[in-house]
Amino acid sequence: MTAHSYNFDTCPDRTGYGSLKWDKYKGRDILPLWVADMDFETAPEILVGLQKRLDHGIFGYTIPFEAPSEAVVNYLNRAHGYSAKAHWLNFLPGLVPAINLCCHAFTEPGDSVMTATPVYPPFISAPDYAGRELIKVPLCLNADDQWTLDIEAMEAAVTPKTKIFVLCSPHNPVGRVFSREELTGIADFCERHDLILISDEIHCDLVFDEQTKHILTSTLNDTIAARTVTLMAPSKTYNLPGLACAFSVIENQELRLQFQKTIRGIITEVNCFGYAGCEAAYNHGEAWRLELIKYLRSNYDLLYKFINEQIPEITFRPMQSTYLAWFDVAKLGLDNPVKFFEDHGVGLSDGVPFDGHQHVRLNFGCPQSRLIEGLEKMTSAIKQR
Ligand SMILES: Cc1ncc(COP(=O)(O)O)c(C=O)c1O
Repeated sequence: MTAHSYNFDTCPDRTGYGSLKWDKYKGRDILPLWVADMDFETAPEILVGLQKRLDHGIFGYTIPFEAPSEAVVNYLNRAHGYSAKAHWLNFLPGLVPAINLCCHAFTEPGDSVMTATPVYPPFISAPDYAGRELIKVPLCLNADDQWTLDIEAMEAAVTPKTKIFVLCSPHNPVGRVFSREELTGIADFCERHDLILISDEIHCDLVFDEQTKHILTSTLNDTIAARTVTLMAPSKTYNLPGLACAFSVIENQELRLQFQKTIRGIITEVNCFGYAGCEAAYNHGEAWRLELIKYLRSNYDLLYKFINEQIPEITFRPMQSTYLAWFDVAKLGLDNPVKFFEDHGVGLSDGVPFDGHQHVRLNFGCPQSRLIEGLEKMTSAIKQR
């Protein structure tokens, strides 16, 4: 398969397949540009892997086994310079349950969990579901007008009861890829306050900025690796969230056993197609991923130029990763931004569950023609306001 045979310009009709993204607006003329699920077919190399698994014809209980473990271990080494051992991994049917279970595994009633907001909503709901206090520290802008972690504010907010910090790296929704210096800052903070660092790095292979490289938190140094729970998945990069296959990497044996004890009997096994997709993605998906990154970069460039030139009322800061753009729409003076754009034919994610009042998130992981259609609808909506 040659790289230029990949097609990101068209997407099969997704109606009738129970798509969360598309069925939300079933029967309504609303273009869905919400939820982190791309309108691209996955890599043909992954389809081959899935077909091979299907052709086996037997779909019995499946346990974690060598092939996907080896694929993950090799990928971590090759892509991120991380020499992980297979027994540090736990395959999971999703990272959302993992985030929730971390709150149970590593805290007691009365403890608190810290995160930096705005952030992916389950980071905010998980401590609450577990009956733990949530300490939200807003991200701040650095001298280059980029979102960053506010270590000073974190110092002011942390208490002896704080037990974990949940980090989104790269960051959803602001799209920042944190530098070594920023990550060292958070690592030192966790060290000073004896916190476990839950590092959700699900977006780490979606860096489209050519000057930027993602650094896996656990590769900073052995000290931080010993208190880090890394959460990853092939799902965002290869557009496989419906296959429900994710994994944790926990070097520290004590933490790993604590986590395993908590998930035992509660979390279901990954299904056989999840493993097949994961293995094929990491072993054979790189050429497709590189083409995807190019496509996303061109969508991002178009989006960034369009918003800043045509809709200056929306504040959209530069980002380096993900296909999720975070818009501050306060200057538009809308009572309900999501409803306003839906009423004009564009479905965006509401910022409120991210702790982002007067913000919306737009998913640009779609054919460019679809992105342009959405932007034109947004422009005409704003003109009619
Ligand atoms: C930071 C982050 N973590 C986790 C998830 C979802 O993970 P899963 O589908 O494995 O539950 C998402 C989905 O958008 C995400 O952005």
